[in-house]
Amino acid sequence: MDLSTVRTARILRYSKGILAVAFAVGLLSPLVLAAEGVGGRDRSVPAATIAELEAANPVRPIPDSPLGLDVSLSEVPVPPDPQKARLGRWLFFDGRLSRDGSTSCSTCHRPELAFSETLPVSTGIDGHHGQRKAMSLINLAFALYPEVYWDGRAASLEVQAKDPVDNPIEMALPHPEAERVIGSIAGYGPFFEQAFGDREVTIDRISVAIASYIRTRISGNSAYDRWKRGGDEGALGDDARQGEKLFFGKALCARCHVGSTFTDSRYHNLGVGWDGEARDFADWGREDFTRDEKDRGAFKTPHLRDVELHPPYMHDGSVATLEDVVKFYDRGGNRNPWISPKLEPLDLSVDESRALVAFLRSLTGEGYLDEKPSAFPE
Ligand code: HEC
Ligand code: HEC
Repeated sequence: MDLSTVRTARILRYSKGILAVAFAVGLLSPLVLAAEGVGGRDRSVPAATIAELEAANPVRPIPDSPLGLDVSLSEVPVPPDPQKARLGRWLFFDGRLSRDGSTSCSTCHRPELAFSETLPVSTGIDGHHGQRKAMSLINLAFALYPEVYWDGRAASLEVQAKDPVDNPIEMALPHPEAERVIGSIAGYGPFFEQAFGDREVTIDRISVAIASYIRTRISGNSAYDRWKRGGDEGALGDDARQGEKLFFGKALCARCHVGSTFTDSRYHNLGVGWDGEARDFADWGREDFTRDEKDRGAFKTPHLRDVELHPPYMHDGSVATLEDVVKFYDRGGNRNPWISPKLEPLDLSVDESRALVAFLRSLTGEGYLDEKPSAFPE
């Protein structure tokens, strides 16, 4: 394809998108639903209610990638779908997906904290604690590999989204119960129909919708992007500029934190959680999934955008601040028999350490922020 063909294809895709969005966002969709007797079989949801719900959580256009992200959401392996993402937004914030109504995905993945949180390990239903830090759900549509979790044990976002629902320490709602509970909320019917063609509520549809929503949470246009890509010389101070040089050079960070999302989505042992006396890890990480000893203590490289928003750091939340993260890397991680050969002691000066932290802080961007919808299907 030459450039002009690519451009035409883009324009075509774009105008199709606009039509789809205009159709879905405008007054059109409640009218259409109303004209069809609110989706045919079930007339229990008044058109007025549907219009209110549309207003509280409208179908949003799939966002354009902000400055700094190379790829657009229409080009990723699984592009988000506007109708599914809208349904997924409700489900993500809906506590009724838990046994006692107390817990939703957003309990641990908080929008204003880059969809992570500031606790070392999460607190789920009945005050239960997990063993790992809640991961930040940003730019996952762009990940180089589809597997998720610190150990990569879920093959995709769709597979993952089912787990917390019936996990006894997270939301504790068995899948058949989840299907019954959401299926019995008449107000959800028209929106399942819009997203999937009919009103059947299955755990697979729930997770597909939530995954679609998560893929719309993207972050870019940080001070770093405005300086690097936007030609805005004033966007980045001297210290952050020096930090950038170190990050991609002497400090070796870009051996693993690569690309515009700053992660290779691969698994590395840095020695986090290594107990030198017991000569063991509290959490074997990737090995528990692969059963391969070479993966002992290895965890997925997290992305680094908006990282300053959600201390403490690492899979166990054991590193309190970004300054401490840099100290950790400066000493070459925690020596242990399985440590990644990509780590080395860095011998950073005080100024260099400060510069690296300034660079990490310059990665705070925008595009993902959201809030709980103001009304939910009843
Ligand atoms: C009780 C807190 C809690 C709740 C509730 C929760 N999560 Fe998580 N989430 C976590 C923790 C902790 C991890 C890391 C777990 C691990 O790696 O074993 C995680 C990891 C993830 C990941 C992996 C991200 C990556 O980059 O690999 C995704 C995706 C995710 N959660 C989505 C969800 C969705 C969707 C829901 C609701 C259906 C949800 N979470 C509910 C705490 C929670
Ligand atoms: C060998 C690959 C590798 C290198 C090199 C590397 N990292 Fe990491 N980084 C990781 C992995 C893997 C984790 C998660 C480790 C864990 O939790 O056990 C991580 C975690 C982090 C975190 C915590 C993020 C969070 O959400 O908790 C920050 C910040 C970070 N790295 C910054 C850096 C900086 C700065 C450098 C360079 C000084 C660097 N990394 C070098 C792989 C690497």
